[in-house]
Amino acid sequence: MSFDRSIKIAPSILSADFANFGQEIQAIESQGADWVHIDVMDGHFVPNLTFGPMAVKAFRPHVKTVMDVHLMIAPVDPYIDAYADAGADVLTAHIEAGPHIHRTLQAIRAAGMKAGVALNPGTPAEAVAQLLDLTDLICVMTVNPGFGGQKFIDMTSKIRSLRSMIGDRPVHIEIDGGVDPSTAPLVAEAGADVLVAGSAVFKGGSVNDPDVYGANIRNIRDAANGVWA
Ligand code: DX5
Ligand code: ZN
Repeated sequence: MSFDRSIKIAPSILSADFANFGQEIQAIESQGADWVHIDVMDGHFVPNLTFGPMAVKAFRPHVKTVMDVHLMIAPVDPYIDAYADAGADVLTAHIEAGPHIHRTLQAIRAAGMKAGVALNPGTPAEAVAQLLDLTDLICVMTVNPGFGGQKFIDMTSKIRSLRSMIGDRPVHIEIDGGVDPSTAPLVAEAGADVLVAGSAVFKGGSVNDPDVYGANIRNIRDAANGVWA
């Protein structure tokens, strides 16, 4: 995984057909997805429940790009090795999920993965000030986590603060929640480079009609890059 700040689209398979993850992953990757975003929810840190390390391990052979695993679970530390074994490339933990995010990020890197830290909308940019050298990705939630298809919450001033705090460090800024062609330009202009999108990628398409995924991905990317068709 090399580092660059070009716009990367990371479809969230939370909006895929849950009975057909393998083909769904192949379809989005063949249609231009840069990363595959996997939302792990525990019914405790967030009110919804998705899948755990055994399912993520089963996704691994289908993911040819970057497997980006977003943990919405608490606690995190007891599960880090399981997600390393499942083959996560990036493992992101919420700063709100426990008192020891510093240790968690160290443990994620020690297990051989890129370490991400996610911030809920109510958490300020300054919360990561002491973590910038321990993290490879900061995920700015633009919805309260738990569900796909929610309305975008404007976090552009937080993104700008983070971009300036990061400076030259090789740290991605990822945006998660309500990203579509209308909101992508705002977050890209503020300094984000990884755009997660669930409903805006999967809407209207299917594994039998994957071109729709391609058009949706292209529309988000073009909007983020300031290309107006
Ligand atoms: C929300 C998840 C997101 C979600 C995004 O808790 O972390 O990744 O799937 O979905 P959309 O793009 O539909 O807001
Ligand atoms: Zn997510």
